[in-house]
Amino acid sequence: MEDKLIQVKYKEGNSIEAFDDSTQSLIRETIEFASNAYAPYSNFHVSAGLMLDNGKIVKGTNVENASYPVSICAERTLLSHTVSNYPKNKIQKIAIYVDKDLSEPVPPCGVCRQTLLEVEKRQAQPIEVILISKSGTYIVFEKCADLLPLYFDGEVL
Ligand code: THU
Repeated sequence: MEDKLIQVKYKEGNSIEAFDDSTQSLIRETIEFASNAYAPYSNFHVSAGLMLDNGKIVKGTNVENASYPVSICAERTLLSHTVSNYPKNKIQKIAIYVDKDLSEPVPPCGVCRQTLLEVEKRQAQPIEVILISKSGTYIVFEKCADLLPLYFDGEVL
């Protein structure tokens, strides 16, 4: 047996001024959009915003249900909407925000990572992932696959 090491490269920072103007707009719009979250059970308001290859910004939130497992995360609300409504466009980047007093950004759940991966694989172009905290700190991954080492995808089927 041999030891193996998986390394993931990411960037972190604490001022969104470091991003270009259009990415700053994406981040600001995504943060504002958290007020649309429907999360009466968890009170955990999540928003996600993405930028298409034509510069259009599309946003989504988590949407909960009294039958808890029926709830859907912000990322998957957004990705399902985008895949359905903009089938010809590629996604350049996605920003994810949690409206809670936390000093660090909140990484997406495993199901959302798998969903992000599927969309990234399908479009054969990396989607940058920007995680933003309420305190203003952020983490940036070059691509969705970086969030899911040893991923399962359709190539083995
Ligand atoms: N949630 C998201 O929207 N995205 C994630 O990646 C993790 C969790 C939502 C689901 C639920 O409405 C609430 O956060 C608490 O789990």
